[in-house]
Amino acid sequence: MEISPHGVAAVLSSIKGGDFLSSADLTADQTNAILDLATQLKNGDRRIDLGNRVLGLIFTKASTRTRVSFQVAMARLGGQTVDLNPQVTQLGRGEPLEDTARVLSRFCDVLAVRTFAQKELEQYAKWASIPVVNALTDLEHPCQALADFLTIQETFGSLSGQTLAYIGDGNNVAHSLMICGALLGVNVKIGTPNGFEPLPDVVEHARAIAKPNTSIELSNDPKEAVKEATAIYTDVWASMGQEEEQAQREKAFKNFCLDKELLCCASSEAIVLHCLPAHRGEEISSEVMESSKSRIFDQAENRLHVQQALLAALLGGL
Ligand code: CP
Ligand code: NVA
Repeated sequence: MEISPHGVAAVLSSIKGGDFLSSADLTADQTNAILDLATQLKNGDRRIDLGNRVLGLIFTKASTRTRVSFQVAMARLGGQTVDLNPQVTQLGRGEPLEDTARVLSRFCDVLAVRTFAQKELEQYAKWASIPVVNALTDLEHPCQALADFLTIQETFGSLSGQTLAYIGDGNNVAHSLMICGALLGVNVKIGTPNGFEPLPDVVEHARAIAKPNTSIELSNDPKEAVKEATAIYTDVWASMGQEEEQAQREKAFKNFCLDKELLCCASSEAIVLHCLPAHRGEEISSEVMESSKSRIFDQAENRLHVQQALLAALLGGL
């Protein structure tokens, strides 16, 4: 159920000034409120001007969607972005993170960090005196999950009773989908080859916070995993930093391609999602990617709307 602008502001006032390092950093109500605010912003029912605030982007890995959607979100909020690529800052020459985070806190109002270790992101959050947002780590991709569930909500009108099947590697994207799905009452089934399951701690955490009657299940059989799913999701088999494992992973994942045959095992209403970038012919067939079932580009667009909502909430502009 959609909440009024006043209700959204009341729920989100509690996250002002906080960090967003994991999908678990928001409660179910706060997550729903971010999705509602994102919808209001997307539909033009709400305009928010934060008055020239500055977002610093510290990206140690490549990015198209996350980088650009954060830049555009900040511009639409009346603010600006500075791109602090570690290659061109003193970070690349060994300046300690704790010094960098404290200095940037004197210039910027919020930081979005994309890096490898979650611990490094946590260090930024520890030393920065401004909100820090996870723009992808090896453990989680929480901004992505917000956009993914907004896309499912837009398609079906409601998240309740939906089942999301994620097929492929039990990676950062799978982790955030499990946690965020658990909070929102969406059943999540993760289908991976043996040995590529999500981390047991994350599965346990998702199950512990799941809404009543919401299941978080694992399977090593892709056809079984997609049975009755209303959204089928996949991601690359080798994430950034795992490029050397590509050949070995192609073998292990060969039965996990999201193709027409696999799609036929899901609900007839099922939509197809992918966080992108995609490797056509590997984790997803070109036919499925270009089919009428695909909501992949709506999903990419929704990165902008959820991040605009998130930044407005963290910066207290509601
Ligand atoms: N989905 C996603 O995070 O894309 P980028 O790596 O291009 O930011
Ligand atoms: N799992 C992928 C997601 C990219 C958006 C990676 O970490 O490379």
